[in-house]
Amino acid sequence: MNEANWEEIYQISKKWVNEAGDYIKETFNTSISVEYKSNPSDLVTDIDRHVEQLFIEKIHTAYPEHRIVGEEGFGDKVKDTSGIIWFVDPIDGTTNFVHQQSNFAISIGIYEEGIGKVAIILDVARGEMFHCLKGQGAFMNDIPLKNLSDVELHESVLAINATWLTENKRVDSRMLAPLVKELRGTRSLGSAAIEMAYIAAGRLDGYISLRLSPWDFAAGAILVEEVGGKCTTLDGRELNMLKQNTVFAGKSNVHQMIHSNFIKKGLENNYFLHSPS
Ligand code: IPD
Ligand code: CA
Ligand code: CA
Ligand code: CA
Repeated sequence: MNEANWEEIYQISKKWVNEAGDYIKETFNTSISVEYKSNPSDLVTDIDRHVEQLFIEKIHTAYPEHRIVGEEGFGDKVKDTSGIIWFVDPIDGTTNFVHQQSNFAISIGIYEEGIGKVAIILDVARGEMFHCLKGQGAFMNDIPLKNLSDVELHESVLAINATWLTENKRVDSRMLAPLVKELRGTRSLGSAAIEMAYIAAGRLDGYISLRLSPWDFAAGAILVEEVGGKCTTLDGRELNMLKQNTVFAGKSNVHQMIHSNFIKKGLENNYFLHSPS
């Protein structure tokens, strides 16, 4: 395979995301079809599917040797991380899209041999695009994002869905409650991509989810690391781009303090209900 022209891929992918964002905005005053996938909390619309297909067409035409992993299943069956892979979430936060027509994003993370290279997260309704080409700094629209600075836990705001504090299949409900009590506050924005972009932008200090797929976190992980943050599984291991993961992202010092003060204890007390992933 020829060496990739990353600057070109970066510019063209931003253009495609902006075009897809414009298309989604045009649907705001039309009737959309909403279906359940696995259950009533798991929605998909015709717009999610159409936007994913738009990306797949464009990527396959411009870069036939690249592979695509998309949430709605129109991409390739990818079983290894070799070559260039686009992780496409056409609408991250479909519940918000359906209920609020805001607080949802298009999320694209592009990886080469498993290493994140390009990240784009477009908050469509706010017109905020968070983006980076690895090693060249991250931006919100044209504004450079600063390197993340340390913050005390009692001054930190962490994004977490309340599900993970109630009885669930991943961790004992005693696992995360003591952490939440220690913080300034928690938020749940309903879009993993926006929550991770907000860490990169310094608007949140951390984010924990116990079940995300690669298309949910692919772009967010690149952005967080580009500004000096850390993104791992809940127990501190490297994220696996081929399966669902727990995800723990944050400012480096917040990540480290939460790991040593709370996660380690959870491991010692067997609060992880099956071997952590
Ligand atoms: C969902 C959102 C949500 C997260 C879910 C994801 P989707 O993505 O990111 O915030 O809690 O786990 O599945 O289905 O709206 O693209
Ligand atoms: Ca979904
Ligand atoms: Ca998603
Ligand atoms: Ca989605």
